[in-house]
Amino acid sequence: MTVLLGIETSCDETAAAVVQDGRQVLSSVVSSQVDLHARFGGVVPEIASRAHVELLTPVVAEALVEAGLEGPEVDAVAATVGPGLVGSLLVGISAAKALALVWDVPFVGVNHLEAHVHAAFLEEPDLPLPLVVLLVSGGHTMLVEFAGYGQHRVLGSTVDDAAGEAFDKVARFLGLGYPGGPAIDRVAMDGDPEAIAFPRPMLDDGLQFSFSGLKTAVINHVRAHPDVATADVAASFQAAVVDVLLAKGRRAAEEVSAQGLCLAGGVAANSLLRERWLDACTETGVRCFLPSRSLCTDNAAMVAAAGWYRLRAEGPTPLDAGAEPNLKL
Ligand code: KG4
Ligand code: ZN
Repeated sequence: MTVLLGIETSCDETAAAVVQDGRQVLSSVVSSQVDLHARFGGVVPEIASRAHVELLTPVVAEALVEAGLEGPEVDAVAATVGPGLVGSLLVGISAAKALALVWDVPFVGVNHLEAHVHAAFLEEPDLPLPLVVLLVSGGHTMLVEFAGYGQHRVLGSTVDDAAGEAFDKVARFLGLGYPGGPAIDRVAMDGDPEAIAFPRPMLDDGLQFSFSGLKTAVINHVRAHPDVATADVAASFQAAVVDVLLAKGRRAAEEVSAQGLCLAGGVAANSLLRERWLDACTETGVRCFLPSRSLCTDNAAMVAAAGWYRLRAEGPTPLDAGAEPNLKL
């Protein structure tokens, strides 16, 4: 039995979690900084790192208490080393190394994207492999073929904006506030997804994504039709994004003969995407997995899970390892 403390500070969530054997979540605490950044319309890196410094100690303490542990009972400490905001990453990495030194246990550096992919296995340890994971977050949009720890291949990614970034930018333009994804999700419920025929970028074209043109199409449409209902714009935009994500997810599953299709990352919390992803899996006969919303958005349970696999496969990470803001999957 191996108990890992995971720490996540790559962006604007300060999170800590205790996970046993990469599977069983004993505690998961997420302190969101959304309120601190909302008035700026996006994450301000300097504010984020300062907030992590203040929040991390109480968040770690709460995660340990909730798991019913004293610190020294932890077998290893994992932290996200990248990709992310360098100042924010450094706060989590420094704390994780300090705790690992004090408790005399291994430190494990974790790739944030790998952590998102591993989130699924916390709820469904026996997912059939190979799996196609659609990882859609604020910073990334990619289709990943996953055949086991360390055996993953990026099948396609975005050539410009990430899906979450498009949600955030469109929401900002529509005056819906930050973070944009949940706001558009909510407002779209009252809109007509067929009201405006927005483009479906690169729909019939391989496994790459592009969302920048769609964002511009939304802005141009609203400028040309200032009286258009915001709910219709939100619903039509969301429908366009989901159509593209779905078509590419299905194509990727066919190409690699996937046994299962899984969602990961913050945008995987989107109601329409979840509903239609499930329908697509039912139609194609591929096993569908939708992690719960709290495991889709940034959290530390996924970091502890990926850390456990990494520790088993590669051993501890040297203590002189630093932050890697541009780390790739
Ligand atoms: O994975 P995540 O929490 O952080 C990153 O690693 O980026 O993803 C955050 C992104 C944001 O762009 C946010 O707007 C989007 O996920 N998001 C959503 C929803 N909830 C969060 N996008 C669409 N619909 C949602 N319900
Ligand atoms: Zn993330």
